[in-house]
Amino acid sequence: MFRSGQSIGILPPGENEKGKPHKLRLYSVSSPSKGEGGNPNYVSTTVKRANEEVDGVFYTGICSNYLSNLKPGDELSITGPSGKRYLLPSNADEFNYVFFATGTGVAPFRGMIMELIEAGHKGQIVLIFGCPYRTDLLYKSYFESLEKEHDNVHYIKMISREDRRSDGSKKYVQTAIEDYDELLAPILASDNTLVYLCGMKGMQTGIYEQLAKKGYTDYLTAKGEAAEKDPSEWTWEDLKTSVKPSDRTFEEVY
Ligand code: A2P
Repeated sequence: MFRSGQSIGILPPGENEKGKPHKLRLYSVSSPSKGEGGNPNYVSTTVKRANEEVDGVFYTGICSNYLSNLKPGDELSITGPSGKRYLLPSNADEFNYVFFATGTGVAPFRGMIMELIEAGHKGQIVLIFGCPYRTDLLYKSYFESLEKEHDNVHYIKMISREDRRSDGSKKYVQTAIEDYDELLAPILASDNTLVYLCGMKGMQTGIYEQLAKKGYTDYLTAKGEAAEKDPSEWTWEDLKTSVKPSDRTFEEVY
């Protein structure tokens, strides 16, 4: 069984520029634990072709292009599943969830949310999704229809390069904590809420900063000197090096 939140390993064929076989890449399972469409033989992942130019050099994502070029019926080898903690809890119905995702980091949350919805989840489910442009809104119609059909599902889009906050700054997943305070405050303040992060590493410290600023410190733990300070006094350096997720926070950042 491939549980949502776990990863599968994919070995792209061929060799790198040094003549060595390509390394295994990990991809998050984006299907619910019962399998895609309820079929335990089907596992999904979320792939975006990575082709970009950095400082005049054009980089082609080996594995993302390999996967994107596959045709129905093609065979490939996968390993796994791997991952033991980044899952929904076994008593999943007892919690509210706030999921923070950037880009393809939405993969595990698609599966988890499908699973919660199928189980008739009554608690609150918030997906805060960050991407550069509207065209990058992965699974947009699925999440929009869920939000329409279920009062407890909330889909917040933070589109960094097209929208602006009221002060003119960029919309990032962490700024939603302030921008959607009315919706999020009662959920984040509740002691049966779990927070999940998946996506670019850069969002981690930003989310910690916003959680600390609003006093949602149950999602964080501090070590060393930071542990002696009031969370409102944590510096960016404290947040980056000494503040860690608590047992109510789950992270998969890269
Ligand atoms: P931007 O690149 O405009 O600064 P994707 O994986 O599809 O590229 O999306 C990543 C998203 O995360 C983008 O909207 C990107 O914004 C945003 N982002 C970049 N840096 C941070 C950060 N430090 N914290 C949160 N989000 C970030």
